[in-house]
Amino acid sequence: MKKIILYLSAFLFCLTNVVAQNKIIVEASKIIAPVQPTMWGIFFEDINFAADGGIYAELVKNRSFEFTTPLMGWKEIKQNGGNGKLLVINDAQLKPQNPRYLRISSDTINGEYGLSNEGFRGMGIQKNEQYNFSVWVRKKEGNAKIIVELIGTNGKKLGTASLQNFTNDWKKYKVSFTSNDTCSKAKLNVLLQGKGTIDVDMISLFPQHTWKERPEGLRADLVQWLADLKPGFIRFPGGCIVEGRDLANRYQWKKTVGTIENRELIINRWNTEFKNKLTPDYFQSYGLGFYEYFLLAEDIGAEPLPILNCGMACQFNSAEVAAIENEKEFIQDALDLIEFANGSITTKWGKLRAAMGHPKPFNLKMMGVGNENWGAQYIERNIAFTKAIKAKYPNIQLVNSSGTDPDGERFNFLNDTLRKLGADLIDEHYYRAPEWFLQNVKHYDNYDRKGSKVFAGEYAAHSKLTNDGEKKNNWESALAEAAFMTGLERNAGVVYMASYAPLFAHIDAWQWAPDLIWFNSLQSYATPNYYVQQMYSTNKGTHVISMLHDGETIAGKNNVYGNAVIDKNKKEVIIKLANVNATSINYTIELNGLKKINNKAVMQLLTSNNIADVNNFIQPQNIKPVEQTIAINNNELIISLPPSSFSVIKIPVEIK
Ligand code: AHR
Repeated sequence: MKKIILYLSAFLFCLTNVVAQNKIIVEASKIIAPVQPTMWGIFFEDINFAADGGIYAELVKNRSFEFTTPLMGWKEIKQNGGNGKLLVINDAQLKPQNPRYLRISSDTINGEYGLSNEGFRGMGIQKNEQYNFSVWVRKKEGNAKIIVELIGTNGKKLGTASLQNFTNDWKKYKVSFTSNDTCSKAKLNVLLQGKGTIDVDMISLFPQHTWKERPEGLRADLVQWLADLKPGFIRFPGGCIVEGRDLANRYQWKKTVGTIENRELIINRWNTEFKNKLTPDYFQSYGLGFYEYFLLAEDIGAEPLPILNCGMACQFNSAEVAAIENEKEFIQDALDLIEFANGSITTKWGKLRAAMGHPKPFNLKMMGVGNENWGAQYIERNIAFTKAIKAKYPNIQLVNSSGTDPDGERFNFLNDTLRKLGADLIDEHYYRAPEWFLQNVKHYDNYDRKGSKVFAGEYAAHSKLTNDGEKKNNWESALAEAAFMTGLERNAGVVYMASYAPLFAHIDAWQWAPDLIWFNSLQSYATPNYYVQQMYSTNKGTHVISMLHDGETIAGKNNVYGNAVIDKNKKEVIIKLANVNATSINYTIELNGLKKINNKAVMQLLTSNNIADVNNFIQPQNIKPVEQTIAINNNELIISLPPSSFSVIKIPVEIK
């Protein structure tokens, strides 16, 4: 017994000694910088089926027959002796934005004839959910009925409905039904019964249950992930999608607003981008257009940040630029967008916003000039753009591109030039190895605080430990990001915004990995990287405060990374610490400069045994934050950071 007590005392003596040496001092009254409300945000791009087939809840693929191959996603079917013909008709004079429609002729009195849609790699159907079918129809001959059938993978009829009595003019018809079973890869049959000919367009099926129950709206589970991040901003619509492979393929916001059937579909630039990941059925229907993006931003409490094309196509593809004499057109699009978002309802574009259902302005405060553009050609266009926007809207903050990398010749030229020009914000992108993130935690320590501010607009650690798809979102990558983000946060005096990229990936249709959130037709899960983002964005604080170890910021010595903030509204000191060691490490944290400190802190801990670990559809919460409480004695807490872990410690305080 005596021996045990001796051992125990020796152990406790060692521990106290170690933690005494490992003392972190937090000075709450030493404010380093305010943290911008926009600090942690979201990057949304229609890549990996993020929009069509993803967040936009439409279940029918190629609903308006405008894909390059007009019947892609559709298959002719004949049932019970039915027979007939399909004819794709193009009437650009009548419907310039959506010129094609389908003529279906049923030649038999008995049986059914028509076509079947496969959805976006199958339709995700839930038991007992209501589904709303709609279609534009014009009768040509006879009195055929439309039969709608939802069919499960085993051939089971999940639901059915019918429509009839069509007029000779185009009109939208609707019918709803409830599914009797769940199926992740259902298909939709649209059949004519009886002899006759009709023209159809915009064949559509939506679940009744959507985000905020909006008709023909967004997938609720996917938007919920975004809302739960409590993001400071949402950047949209990309990404390279802004630039397009060539200028004709660029994102043009005006084509994405107004009535759905008049939005002009285009090919998605990720359709053919990667030879090993060809996605021939990837198009943009623009059901999720700029109005819906603004609404989404408002719903989740994020500042909208649209990025506009400034007359330059993707420089990795065609690298085409608009003649500088034609820059006016691009500038006008930007000015009109500000009017669409903020203008009075008596203005042309403000009136459209009101007609779409939002008379109140969206209060747009910032906008991006191009994505990943570089070179003198960018500077030339950027100057013209900035001059025109600032002349009319001096308070709109402009985000400027620094190219594709946070270093190198391209970056240095743009960064130097844009800073000399007094740019508001400069957008930096880095998709690098986890080691880069660890080595660059001090990346912003010496940036000028007075000049242009930084938007870390796209970043993700690309681990080589695990190769394919969702496995790339392993714990190694998330921990490296957590460590690096202490540096972003510590430098909140110059880093005003940051967003992980890309955001979403469909497990059966992705082009780019890693990604923050993975989904299939029915389910979705958050990656460890998501939880890191969430631990930052829901604990961002209002001010960075001093936190030192041995008189230095905690930026990689002994493989530990840390930063502290105070939240003057919530009255909390929040400490973030990433331990990138394979062993645990102990610290004493001394808190100074406060009127009163609670005797308990809450610690959110994110960790996993193996750095190759991931979340997936089978174990979606394999890695997720867990909470524990820690005692505080006087003004000190003793903590043990587990191996490979990220901790957020929240301490209720009274501020002097
Ligand atoms: O996030 C994927 C792509 O990476 C973005 O579209 C582009 O901006 C960057 O190259």
